[in-house]
Amino acid sequence: MAAPGPHSVLYKGLMLPALVHSTESLRYAQLGFQVRDRDIFSVTYPKSGTTWMQELLTLIHSDGDPQLAQSVPSWERVPWVEQTTAAGFLENRPCPWLISSHLPCGLFPTSLHGSNAKVIYTVRNPKDVCVSLYYYSKMASFLEFPEDFGEFVELFSAGKVLFGSWFQHVKGWLGLRDRLNFLLLTYEEMHQDLRGSVERICQFLGKPLEARALDGVVENASFQAMKQNRMCNYSLVPENIMDQQISPFLRKGVPGDWKGHFTVAQSQAFDRLYQEQMQDVGIQFPWDEA
Ligand code: A3P
Repeated sequence: MAAPGPHSVLYKGLMLPALVHSTESLRYAQLGFQVRDRDIFSVTYPKSGTTWMQELLTLIHSDGDPQLAQSVPSWERVPWVEQTTAAGFLENRPCPWLISSHLPCGLFPTSLHGSNAKVIYTVRNPKDVCVSLYYYSKMASFLEFPEDFGEFVELFSAGKVLFGSWFQHVKGWLGLRDRLNFLLLTYEEMHQDLRGSVERICQFLGKPLEARALDGVVENASFQAMKQNRMCNYSLVPENIMDQQISPFLRKGVPGDWKGHFTVAQSQAFDRLYQEQMQDVGIQFPWDEA
């Protein structure tokens, strides 16, 4: 997305798909939306495990019973605060409630600060995010991206994609972690130990689950189970908006897919940028060891 086209809305320097965002919805999210102490936010840069976390939070909330997750679309169960439908879903929400957001911290509801709301931030290897976003851009008719993967890597590296720079997003949110009620998770640790990750989430939420409920969460949030669940696999979205023949929404679901996409030169250039951008963050991520 080199320049805002007819499918994009530009808000305070951030480019977003106009299909589900507007200047009004973004202003409402930032300034109008009132955060409550018992709200639970799942915050992600796109393609970092948003849908997975929506499913996990729904299942934890339902004590492992898949009924809700299999009968209500994920975007209604855990709606995005920045989308045009947000006020309708969230104004009269019960407490506690589950809310998604892709917003960088600077555009997040200002009333978060000083509240006791919980924030779960899920982060994923940016090279895998880049690959996942590339395929998503191909299948989503509301995104304009180059066909050439090398060109796409350059746009991603420069932050000229939806929701802006991965580096700014991650560094911004991590910079707030000591000031908020904050849990940091990685896609990679969820993939390696889903049960352990669910236990960490439960502990953070103050909602311990018994072994059978935990089994229910883990089984129903597996890649295969989610691929079958029409309420989260995006097959409810018309084909002219998301064409899953081009690439399924739940595509591969593994860490490390970047290795089959980045050339050595692209990988080295990205690593240099990563070192430069992330040197002061002071967190060792699973992909840093690879
Ligand atoms: P891939 O394109 O690499 O397969 P988001 O929900 O933030 O848009 O992220 C989508 C990515 O998360 C996709 O990655 C998708 O396959 C992956 N994903 C979703 N649910 C998953 C699960 N249960 N296990 C592993 N990966 C999952």
